[in-house]
Amino acid sequence: MNIPLVDLDRVQDSIENARGMPNRYYTDLDAYAEERDALFADQWACAAFASDVPEPGCVYPVQLAGMPLLVVRDKQDTIRVFHNVCSHRGVKLAEQPEKLAGMLCCPYHSWTYDLTGKLIATPHVGGVGQHKVEGLACEEHGLKEIRSTIWMGLIFVDLTGKAGEFEDRLAALYARWDEFFPSRQYDMLEADPESGSWELELNCNWKLAVENYCEAYHLPWIHPALNTYSKLEDHYNIVDESFSGQGSHAYRLSDFEGYKLPTLPGWPESRQQNAEYISLYPNVLLGLQADHAFAMILLPQGPEKTIERLRLYYMPGVVGQSETATARQSVLDAWQEVFTEDVGVVEAMQRGRHSPGFDGGKFSPVMDPPTHAFHKWVAKKLQQHHEDAR
Ligand code: FES
Ligand SMILES: [Fe+2]
Repeated sequence: MNIPLVDLDRVQDSIENARGMPNRYYTDLDAYAEERDALFADQWACAAFASDVPEPGCVYPVQLAGMPLLVVRDKQDTIRVFHNVCSHRGVKLAEQPEKLAGMLCCPYHSWTYDLTGKLIATPHVGGVGQHKVEGLACEEHGLKEIRSTIWMGLIFVDLTGKAGEFEDRLAALYARWDEFFPSRQYDMLEADPESGSWELELNCNWKLAVENYCEAYHLPWIHPALNTYSKLEDHYNIVDESFSGQGSHAYRLSDFEGYKLPTLPGWPESRQQNAEYISLYPNVLLGLQADHAFAMILLPQGPEKTIERLRLYYMPGVVGQSETATARQSVLDAWQEVFTEDVGVVEAMQRGRHSPGFDGGKFSPVMDPPTHAFHKWVAKKLQQHHEDAR
């Protein structure tokens, strides 16, 4: 394969000299496959929300960078993630989210798996009326389970088992956010799947959604309403090894006809108007405010298509209460407006990526460090992957 490593070196140069990721990583199927292996299989990547499988028996199929996965909540209430494929002839097992009354049955020849992935039944496999056959040990042909973990209601997967400890992955983020949320009780935040969910499909590469989220630079032109109170000058850059983004000093705590959403414990009084927006590489966008949080999962569906899935989170006692419904709706409306305003530019960046006149782009050394940090991470991981493959 012709791998232009020199381009990836250039991405990692100082921001004054660097260029952004080359166009092929936004348009080309081979490059997309490289990213799938280097960025989505070798790292902790996010597949779904735990609230996608609310009860035992629920299954939720997800396509992550071309890979069909299946999230299952088994009868013991354990969430597991499997490759969504039958061990017999490779039929994709589940196509729709549903709550199963019993087991998972393949639509082709009815091989049947329990919700822990064990192969339980293989009808007529040894001839009519013979449901066992020599040479087929059911215990060796269950569903392939993927290492997974849950944090803040997000299900992360480690497809190749090479991703290391998840706690290590979060260490720098925890350290950063200790000043807002010192107890680190992210799991206490409750997702609002009923009225705090939103999905949209973007005609762009997944990286463009990350890049756009990382920066505040576009605020005056793309988010004029937001810019009236949370202005460009109220923002600052956030750059780390494995995440980047921006913060605001002008977040307005939500106030709805006198009702105030409860705030996260330990959040300092003097920092109530502080909010941070971080892209946790590769595919989660996090927003942390004193009175709510959100997570956006990016699911690449090809080099030029991405599904965004948003979920809002609140302190316990808020979700599902009728007296908080107006507040929750207002929070959702506000974020829908902002994310909708971004669609036009991320899709225009995608169209621009077909231009032979674009070399990855010239960064602003002042406004673009978070985006450059993301590009450097992508380039470094791709290079490491190429080196490991040699
Ligand atoms: S492909 Fe699933 S049972 Fe044959
Ligand atoms: Fe934006």
